[in-house]
Amino acid sequence: MDLIHQNTADPHSAQRWVLVLPFTSSVTPTQPRYSKETTKDPTNNTTETFEIKVRQNLQDFYHLHNDSTSVVVDCRHNQPVLSYFGNRLATVDASMLSQLDRHEAPASLPIEPAISLTPTIGEGFLGHLGLELHRSTAQWSLAPKLAEANTSQFNLELTSRCTVSDVELTHQLELDPAHSVLRLSVSVRNLSDQATLFIDNCTATLPLPDHLTELEEVTGRWAYEFQNQRHAITRSAYVRENWTGRSSHHMNPTLMLLEKTTSATHGDALGVHLGWSGNHQMRIESLADGRRVLQGGELLRPGELELGPGARYQSPQLYLCHSSEGQNGLTRQWHQMIRREFLAKQSPDSTKRPVHLNTWEALYFGVDETSVLALVDQAATLGIERFVLDDGWFLGRTDDHRALGDWVVDPKKFPNGLTPIIEACHQKGMEFGLWIEPEMVSQKSKLYETHPDWVLHHQGLPLTEARQQLVLDLSQPVVASHLFDAISSLLSAHPIAYIKWDMNRDLHQGGNAEGRHAPHGQTRALYRLLNQVKNAFPEVCIESCASGGGRADLGILEYTSRVWPSDTNDALDRLRVQRGFQNLFPPELMGSHVGPSPCHITGRQHSMAFRAGVAFWGHMGVEADVRQLSKADRHVLSEAIALHKHHRELLHKGSYQVVDRPHGEQAWMVVAPDHSEALAALAILETPSTPFPNRYRFSGLDSDRHYELKLVWPGDLRPLQANHKDALTDTHWSGDWLMSVGLSLPILQPESLLIYHLKAI
Ligand code: DGJ
Repeated sequence: MDLIHQNTADPHSAQRWVLVLPFTSSVTPTQPRYSKETTKDPTNNTTETFEIKVRQNLQDFYHLHNDSTSVVVDCRHNQPVLSYFGNRLATVDASMLSQLDRHEAPASLPIEPAISLTPTIGEGFLGHLGLELHRSTAQWSLAPKLAEANTSQFNLELTSRCTVSDVELTHQLELDPAHSVLRLSVSVRNLSDQATLFIDNCTATLPLPDHLTELEEVTGRWAYEFQNQRHAITRSAYVRENWTGRSSHHMNPTLMLLEKTTSATHGDALGVHLGWSGNHQMRIESLADGRRVLQGGELLRPGELELGPGARYQSPQLYLCHSSEGQNGLTRQWHQMIRREFLAKQSPDSTKRPVHLNTWEALYFGVDETSVLALVDQAATLGIERFVLDDGWFLGRTDDHRALGDWVVDPKKFPNGLTPIIEACHQKGMEFGLWIEPEMVSQKSKLYETHPDWVLHHQGLPLTEARQQLVLDLSQPVVASHLFDAISSLLSAHPIAYIKWDMNRDLHQGGNAEGRHAPHGQTRALYRLLNQVKNAFPEVCIESCASGGGRADLGILEYTSRVWPSDTNDALDRLRVQRGFQNLFPPELMGSHVGPSPCHITGRQHSMAFRAGVAFWGHMGVEADVRQLSKADRHVLSEAIALHKHHRELLHKGSYQVVDRPHGEQAWMVVAPDHSEALAALAILETPSTPFPNRYRFSGLDSDRHYELKLVWPGDLRPLQANHKDALTDTHWSGDWLMSVGLSLPILQPESLLIYHLKAI
């Protein structure tokens, strides 16, 4: 390599250094070699074809692709670089890759340090590092060198070794075969046979494409989660650090990177999500040379992650999703990927979506045999399909000051146990579900009296309660096995179809029995426990609830098949929560309940038509004292439940998309995969500034087909709007008309919602 100093003719101009790279890499084949082997299984005489991965010589680059997407990994440096992830490239060759190398930046190193998949100290990279570790104060340096690659059609595994620190690093990339979704993860192995190794930081890292200049974050608070906020990316670092010990209400580990002009339907978008339910970080940093770096990974405290000789750390998966069709394109791909990779892999029983009735906002801690049986009776008449007994059913649980940990039925409230309740449910054609909060313990409980040493704590400091409860140290095997026994006793003794697995506090004192910072080990232990329960009772649906949406991520979704996104049942707030939630998660995962009016959290009052119209769009449920409903509300609620059941297949299998509307309105659709049918919603959030709303331009329809269009909700329209319903009957609309010209709408009141059904004829 030569460094040429150029003096320009202009004495005032800056000196220029030009880097001449003697790049001589030959064009190497990018496709892996495979051999196929056919073997006979002697036990059942079947013949299977196995794909044998052939270890590759290290190539200069690798190009993974499916029909729509390319991933290019540059391996010319000491560490792999994710050079490109986006629309499918027809060809990639080494000369194209060398074009990515830039001239020397002013006042910089002669060779620009690469933004590798885990930048390490020593490469000259001056941003936030991707991998930091140490053994002792003198052993912190790292110099990993790429050594080998293993690849198959959609996977690439690159192994590097570092003789300075005695570690092996493996970067794993897995492209979804059908969608623009890429999973990235890193594993670190301690190669020493004597010394332990501490991992201080391990975050997957990639260069952020220049044209993505804005970010949309998912933020919020308890009872108002999944709020999306869009900002320009600036020249300083954007850092999200979540220390709550769960994925959190405040900072769900999801980001979107967008072009300035990206909208719901147009423009490039990059979705990022960390599949991890513990502490996490996401960063976007602008380097001095103008490049931007995107990082995501676990967030660790000193000493939290120790690897003994030979031990290995596997990072959580960082999911990347690309779309050139706006934010809807991202959502479509996330949903399809989640359906295929997560939901379809679970037992079909655990992914059924019967309409729920949950006792929480109906009875709170006041559950007992009489009141619950009365609710069971009422539930059945409304069309409820699964009855869920929430908090309050176990030994001594009269309020939230006591009893967590004592997972046996309270004989005072249920002298005959749960059997009469479950039998009543079954007689009325309903399944039965139960609430538990296994990770927690109350100081006023038998469990705590017997095992005060089972809780997370900070040495030398008094225990800090939140919601009057403490967190059990799941990393102690005895604790995990006690919890498994308690849960499996309940599930073995009763036909329970669903458990609502709650978790109602952050980990403020995350010290475990070993004196380590616990969240890493706690999260892994939680996954092990859930896995054990899931394996023993695969047909049970487990819902992830953490005071609402505090634990909604693709890590927990390996073991759960419903998420409670928020404790608020306020229909207006729910609209915003549901929109944010569904950017990533498909509607069938989203618990959505009709709550009481006034709402117990906000005090706001909404009509039953509005509440039910909002709850209709997810995995529907009711969470109100249905014994108290007026005749009119009971009628509206039953109609909504019937309508939900009628369209449930479409709602839970179709493609969800946002429809652009003016400020103060929200609209969305769910379209059948073959475009033969759709549901479309319009919600008016505020008093409109014009009497008539803008025309509704549908999307995702087949422009060449004709559709029958019906207003299906609310069943009962105000007189002012009756004409609108009539005007739709007996008319067929072409898809292109509906999408281009749109539908004229009636005058609508704030806090109301319409649902249309479209059917191709
Ligand atoms: C928090 C949950 O989000 C609520 O739905 C309810 O289950 C309570 N916990 C019970 O304590």
